[in-house]
Amino acid sequence: LASIRVPVDSVAPGTQLTVLWQGKPVFIRRRTETEIEAARAVGIDELVDMGAENANISGEAEATDENRALANFSPRNPDGSMGVPVGTTGEWLVQMGVCTHLGCVPLGDGAGDFGGWYCPCHGSHYDTAGRIRKGPAPRNLPVPVASFVDETTIQLG
Ligand code: FES
Repeated sequence: LASIRVPVDSVAPGTQLTVLWQGKPVFIRRRTETEIEAARAVGIDELVDMGAENANISGEAEATDENRALANFSPRNPDGSMGVPVGTTGEWLVQMGVCTHLGCVPLGDGAGDFGGWYCPCHGSHYDTAGRIRKGPAPRNLPVPVASFVDETTIQLG
């Protein structure tokens, strides 16, 4: 599985970067406080797909915003081991830019009824955590294997 490293220091809050990985678009979004708060205010029982759909954590995990956002950078200890994870502020959300209905690329930057992403092919609305909220798509946008390798670089794969 080929991995790539993506510099994200130029991504301003409230904007996103789309990169191609394994032939598919990946959305790397730096969310605003408002987007994070909106995502965290949603109850699990309001969701169509209650699974986190996050390749970095257990398949059983629920689709809370915390379970979908990228974990923060964890600096290495002096002995080279990884430091204690510093939690998830929710600033960064990394997900496949592939609609779970029939594979179109959803529009971002606050599109759709839930301020997240909107797929114009058949009208699927995703929220600010990339969770499907309305329309024919059955699942949340998948979160690929991703991690910070330093403070400003995200590795996919
Ligand atoms: Fe996105 Fe059908 S492919 S709604």
